Amino acid sequence: MESPPRPQSAAGPVVGKPIDRVDGQAKTSGQARFAAEYPYPGLAYAALVHSTVARGRVTGFDVAEAAAVPGVLTILTHENAPSMKPPPRATLTNGGMIVTGTTVNYLNTDEVHWNGQPVAVVVAETLEAAREAAGLVRVAYRESQATVDFATEEEHAVPLKGNPLQRGTARKGDAEAAFRVAPVSVDLRFTTPPLNHNAIEPHATTAVWDGDRLTVHEGTQGIAWLRAHLAARFGVPEASVRVISPFVGGAFGGKGPVWAGTLLTVLAARATGRPVRMMLTREGVYRTVGGRSPSIQRVALGAAADGRLTALIHTGVTGTGRVGGLPEAVTSPSGHLYAAPNILLRHSLVELDLLPNTFMRAPGEAPGTFALEAAMDELADKLGMDPITLRMRNEPETNPIDGKRFSHRLLREAYAYGAQRFGWADRTPEPGSMRDGRWLVGMGVATAHHGTMRFTANVTVRLSADGSVLVRCGLQEMGMGAATAQAQIAADALGVPFEAVRVEYGDSTLPTGPGAGASAQTVSVAASLLAACDKLRRKVRALGEGGSLAEILARAGRDHVEAAVGSQTRLGTLAGQAKFIAKFLRDHRRWVKAGCGAQFCEVRVDPDTGEIRVSRWLGVFDVGKVINAKTAASQLRGGIVMGIGMALSEETLVDPRTGRIMNPSLAEYHVPVHADIPPIDIHYLDEPDPTMPLGLLGLGEIGVTGVAAAIANAVHHATGKRVHDLPITLDKLL
Ligand code: MOS
Repeated sequence: MESPPRPQSAAGPVVGKPIDRVDGQAKTSGQARFAAEYPYPGLAYAALVHSTVARGRVTGFDVAEAAAVPGVLTILTHENAPSMKPPPRATLTNGGMIVTGTTVNYLNTDEVHWNGQPVAVVVAETLEAAREAAGLVRVAYRESQATVDFATEEEHAVPLKGNPLQRGTARKGDAEAAFRVAPVSVDLRFTTPPLNHNAIEPHATTAVWDGDRLTVHEGTQGIAWLRAHLAARFGVPEASVRVISPFVGGAFGGKGPVWAGTLLTVLAARATGRPVRMMLTREGVYRTVGGRSPSIQRVALGAAADGRLTALIHTGVTGTGRVGGLPEAVTSPSGHLYAAPNILLRHSLVELDLLPNTFMRAPGEAPGTFALEAAMDELADKLGMDPITLRMRNEPETNPIDGKRFSHRLLREAYAYGAQRFGWADRTPEPGSMRDGRWLVGMGVATAHHGTMRFTANVTVRLSADGSVLVRCGLQEMGMGAATAQAQIAADALGVPFEAVRVEYGDSTLPTGPGAGASAQTVSVAASLLAACDKLRRKVRALGEGGSLAEILARAGRDHVEAAVGSQTRLGTLAGQAKFIAKFLRDHRRWVKAGCGAQFCEVRVDPDTGEIRVSRWLGVFDVGKVINAKTAASQLRGGIVMGIGMALSEETLVDPRTGRIMNPSLAEYHVPVHADIPPIDIHYLDEPDPTMPLGLLGLGEIGVTGVAAAIANAVHHATGKRVHDLPITLDKLL
């Protein structure tokens, strides 16, 4: 058999290497200080009181019992809290976007918009006192009619009005007509439940006012977003707000927007004149930090007998909150994956009186690939075709929906390599035909896909005569090795060893970085860092010739030379942003840029109990150039773990009568544990994208895409049962 293409090795001496994270030791040895661990003299603690109704007005509080708890300093409600400015609309600032979790002006209003909304804050000398007293605050409400049950609201969904990056409806040809006459077809309905964020570090804030200057410690995905938001809400200049966030204990979208806990900690610090800390309980995270929207999706595929698609219809309904949220773009992968001549995509929205949804790893594409890729498997079945053969027969030359060029697409290579490595040829197609002892064995595949984004970034690079390099950028390190990757890039760009480079990050006093989102942080910083290194080399070369850059500096008698990219004045930033966005949109009109990949999975199903075990996994990814073989593989692996949770166990249970989340804890909302996860084999093709800085396509999110479908497909192969409603729990197999 012909051997598959070998993944190319890295080009630079440092870029590509599997270097350990520079912050790894600090974290594993307990030296790393997280947001809730900064000591301050006179520190007070705050705890939230959550609404127990979904919609209405607060008519009164009884705080007598709570106030009597020893150590309670104050109980803030809308009756006595200092004012905050209303939340800004999405706005461009020095740091880019202001990202708002909800539009509620907490404790400045008596209105309640979801069951769990904070309606009071207790501040006390100790955490224990604050939490105990919070449980003793009695709140009276006048309730009004609330819409909280997504499942029954489908008929009221309203088609989404699009924007340049997210079309509500997109079509090519006449998909409905083509579908009606298709020789072979499937017409399927899928549902996915709401999901909550469960980063290992629950959201925590330490806030300190010094006059009108504010310091905030918070694990955030957007230091500059948070700074801009707090400045706007508390009416102080951005320069008066400092956000310190060197370590973030995991974040997958939930620490991007600004939520109630953060704002109310800052408000409590202002009200009490004390440094205040709030650590959300796990329940507090569920009640105040948005998660993934549920979805109802229809995928209808028509094909000729040879498997060529003639029609692809993908429509989806998702929910948002009435006070915020965003359309979870579930139909988006269907615009990119298959060369159907007739395509119809339509996204509709339902507004609910629930905590608004937000970004969660691969928004849209995680649940969207579940529906599309499970439907493709079902179509392959009907055609009597191998599911990989069906996909390759429909692999497009250009972006299916609009004919734009792909900047990069090695999906064929990913499947070819993966099929060989995984032993796909050993699969006997008949459902239930493979066994291992009493276990039914199933093998499934699905395509992974995630669009590529980029933001602006300000970076400075300093080279000292001793050969050391200092990179400064207010980027976010959430555990994925972001700073390590930038040190590798700088080392190669300046021809110095990795150990000579130090990266300062996680502080808003640094040059403003991008947010860590949309899988775009590394490429965004890299682009500016490479430009800064170029500038630096030119500056040094102007001082002399011969030898290394550091030697030139030493001979010229200079201690250091620094180069900066980006402008930190407000005008300069806004002009830079406008130029960047114009260029981005131009680029976006010309190219479709995305990472893709092939997910291979093997499951074992107990024929009597329906217990599902994922027993093997291989992900082969085309994500452009890879900066760090170790951290990249970990990031992709983490996405797959999250996908396994989405496929098999994760589900936020919302009481359809009251809108209250009923399982706000890790005991009742089941994320995968180690025992649920098999060894995960990761490969990437490591071929640079020709249109992106350093050839990077981004890889933070793609790992989760396609996972749920690969599992559903493998479960069908094992059992002959199709489960269209996530999570695939054992009761659905019996
Ligand atoms: Mo991501 S969902 O942009 O953290």
